[in-house]
Amino acid sequence: MTQHDRLLVIDFGSQVTQLIARRLRELNVYCEIHPFNKVDDAFLAAFQPKAVIFSGGPASVYTTGAPMPPKGVFDLGVPILGICYGQQVMMHCLGGHVEGGHGTAEFGRAFVTPTPDKLPLLDGWFAAGDEQVWMSHGDHVSKIAPGFQVYGTSPNAPFAITADPARHFYAVQFHPEVHHTPKGAKLYENFVRLAGFTGDWTMGAYREEAIAKIRAQVGSEKVVCGLSGGVDSSVAAVLIHEAIGDQLTCVFVDHGLLRLGEAEQVVSMFRDTYNIPLIHADESALFLGALEGVSDPEVKRKTIGRLFIQVFEKHAKSIGGAKFLAQGTLYPDVIESVSFSGGPSVTIKSHHNVGGLPEKMGMKLVEPLRELFKDEVRALGRELGLPASFIGRHPFPGPGLAIRCPGEITTEKLDILRRADAVYIDQIRKHGLYDEIWQAFAAILPMKTVGVMGDGRTYDYALALRAVTSVDGMTADYYPFTHGFLGETATRIINEVKGVNRVFYDCTSKPPGTIELE
Ligand code: XMP
Repeated sequence: MTQHDRLLVIDFGSQVTQLIARRLRELNVYCEIHPFNKVDDAFLAAFQPKAVIFSGGPASVYTTGAPMPPKGVFDLGVPILGICYGQQVMMHCLGGHVEGGHGTAEFGRAFVTPTPDKLPLLDGWFAAGDEQVWMSHGDHVSKIAPGFQVYGTSPNAPFAITADPARHFYAVQFHPEVHHTPKGAKLYENFVRLAGFTGDWTMGAYREEAIAKIRAQVGSEKVVCGLSGGVDSSVAAVLIHEAIGDQLTCVFVDHGLLRLGEAEQVVSMFRDTYNIPLIHADESALFLGALEGVSDPEVKRKTIGRLFIQVFEKHAKSIGGAKFLAQGTLYPDVIESVSFSGGPSVTIKSHHNVGGLPEKMGMKLVEPLRELFKDEVRALGRELGLPASFIGRHPFPGPGLAIRCPGEITTEKLDILRRADAVYIDQIRKHGLYDEIWQAFAAILPMKTVGVMGDGRTYDYALALRAVTSVDGMTADYYPFTHGFLGETATRIINEVKGVNRVFYDCTSKPPGTIELE
C-alpha cells in the first residue's frame, strides 16, 4: 500500500508494541512494526516513513550491545516519538544520559504534572489537573539531550514528557498505548496530526487497493482457498472472489467435527448467497475413522492436521492447475517480534493450520489480510456486506469438536456435544451476552456420573461449559455469568439433551488453563 502515508514503529521488544499499532490504525493511519535489528538506513530510505515511533523494551541503553535505532533516523527530518525505552534510547543517541537503580523504578499507575510551557503534542491534556499514566521502567533519563525541554514530570520520572518541538522529537517515559493511560489515544492523535497524516487508511480504500493487488498478482491463473467457516478465511474468500470471480474455488473440508448445522450454514452462504464455486468435501468418515481409539491430545491434533492437508491437496488438484493458494493470514501472525530470551518457546499445543502446504504443492500464496488486525478484518467483512451475525462469530479451532471431547472421540459423544453446545449458545444469545464473550462452548467430559431423573437412576455424561473474555486468545479470563444464568442453562441442557445429567462451569483463567480443554 505504498500510496498511503506510512508510519514506522521500531520495535525494541516491548510486550505492548502491538498496541501502538492498534492506536494508530484506529486513527486511520497506516503503520508497520519492524524489529530494531532489521531497520537500517537502507530500510528507512525504502520505507519512507512520514513519522517514526520507538517502542518500549526491556533492555538498558548503557549496557553493551543494547538495541539501537539506525543513526540516520534522526536525519530523516520526520517527527519521532520515543516511548519508555524509546525515550531513553533517543536521549542516549542525542547526547542525554540514562541511569538505572537508585530506587527510581516505577511500575503501574503514576500521575504526571505539567510544566508551564505548552506543547501541541499535549493538546487536550491537563484540562483537569494532573494526568494518570501507566509507567513500567527500571531505568530513567537523568539528563535530557540538548534542544529538549521538559513538559511533564512525575514523582519518579522528572522527565516524564520531553520534547524538542523545533525538530518534532517527542519522548515520554510512560506508555500512552495502554488503556491505563486514559488520555494516551489523544497523545497519538496529536502526534499524527503534527506529523501531517491525513487519516487515509480506511477499509473502503483498502478494499479497492486489495482487489487491484490480487488481480495484478494472480492474472488469469486459478486460486484455491481453504475455507474453515471462520471469519478470516471467509473474508479473504469473498474479497478474492470480488477481485477474480470464478477463477477462485473454495474447498470446505468437513471433518465431521463441526458444530450443529455448521456445514450447511457455510455451504449455503458461499454457494447460494455469494455464488462462489465451492467444493464441500465431506470427509467425516475418513477423519473419524483415523481418530478411533485415539485419546492423546497431540496425536489427535497431528492426525487431523495431516489428514486435512491430504484431503485439501486431493480436492485442490481436482480443480486442475491452481497456481495460487489463498490464506486468511493476519498481521499479528506476520509481525516478527524481538525475542530477548532466545530459543524456541515450549509447545503447549500444536495449533492446526495448513503450514507447509504451499511449498509441498508448489503454490504461491495470496494473503490479502496480511496487513490487518482481527477487528479490521471484521470491518472489511462489513464493508463487503457479510452478515453481522457471521462477522461477530466466536473463533472456532481447526480441530473442531475433537479438542472439546477430551479422551476418546465417539459419534455418540459428538452428537451429545453438538446438541448441548447449541443449547448453551442459544442461552447466551437469548441473554444478549454473545458479543461480550470472546469465545464460549461446551465440552463433553470423559466420565459418566450418577443422577436421578423422575423416579429413575441415570448414569450419563457430564459436560463442562466454558466462556472467556480475551483480546487475542493469548490470555483469557472466565466470563462471570450470574448464578441464575448458569442454573437455567444447566437445567435446559439436561432437559433438552438426552445423555447428559450433570453440568459444570469452568472458572479457570488462561494461564494457568488454556481456552480449549485439549
Ligand atoms: P488455547 O486452547 O490454546 O486456544 O488457549 C487459544 C485460541 O486458539 C484456538 N485454537 C485453535 N485454533 N487451530 C486453530 O485454528 C487449533 O489447533 C487451535 N487450538 C486452539 C482456540 O479455540 C482459542 O480461540
